Amino acid sequence: MQVLDGKALAETIKDELKAEVDAIRQAAGKIPHLAAVLVGEDPASQVYVRNKVRACEQVGFRSSLVRRPATITQTELLDVVRELNEDPDVDGFIVQLPLPGHLDEEAVNLAIDPRKDVDGFTPDNVGRMTLGLDCYLPATPNGIMIMLERYGVETSGKEVVVLGRSNIVGTPMTILLSRKANPGNATVTICHSRTKDVAAHCRRADILVAAIGIPEMVTADMVKEGAVIIDVGINRVEDSSRSRGYRLAGDVDYAGVKDKVSAITPVPGGVGPMTIVSLMMNTLQASKAK
Ligand code: GUN
Repeated sequence: MQVLDGKALAETIKDELKAEVDAIRQAAGKIPHLAAVLVGEDPASQVYVRNKVRACEQVGFRSSLVRRPATITQTELLDVVRELNEDPDVDGFIVQLPLPGHLDEEAVNLAIDPRKDVDGFTPDNVGRMTLGLDCYLPATPNGIMIMLERYGVETSGKEVVVLGRSNIVGTPMTILLSRKANPGNATVTICHSRTKDVAAHCRRADILVAAIGIPEMVTADMVKEGAVIIDVGINRVEDSSRSRGYRLAGDVDYAGVKDKVSAITPVPGGVGPMTIVSLMMNTLQASKAK
């Protein structure tokens, strides 16, 4: 069984990015600049944004963190987006999700200039991805594609099952895995809350991507012998034996499936770091495009 070590791979790619950023800085005096908007105090979002800022430092980018209270109004948040759209010093930016319940995520997304949409969430970029045109690819699915490529996981002709149909992971994952490319060329099934027999679909999967947000939902009886398991879930599970009161669990029962599969991503240290690397790659692309 091979552990798909996203953390180590992300470090390697960040070193490669840093070398490229250093070369651009010396040649053109330019430094890529990523801004992140964080609304409220959601503990997980704070960790994710902190990791993104830290990655910027590692690869030699400039970063700006725009913090706003959970009480911000929709109009005020749209003003923040507009300012970032218009700021010539900012190459790309993200608005960390989820937003507090009173805010309209869709309206915020629609307000982002597609040229600065390094999350790849705007209709322009999603449409371009679907058509196979140049675009900013969404960070988590693209991070997974890079991981499959670098680890030499064959996807062509394989049965892939994706659990979860979110706009930011499940749906774009199916598009990238089924397109005519390498990695790609897979036969993809998407499962969701209305799927009749999820376990039966999972058991057919050569590659299983779990992005459903239910801790340890995928158990050993649901996976095929020798399958490749990509676990996107990062769930906080109450655990009074830990000093912080919780542990992180994926959507897959890692301990239960690890001896049955050929490769698996750990949680943490699997998909998460690859998501951040993918965001860094998009930011560099945005900076070059300017
Ligand atoms: N929340 C969970 N994943 C993501 C992501 O990739 N981008 C943003 N902006 N928010 C997220």
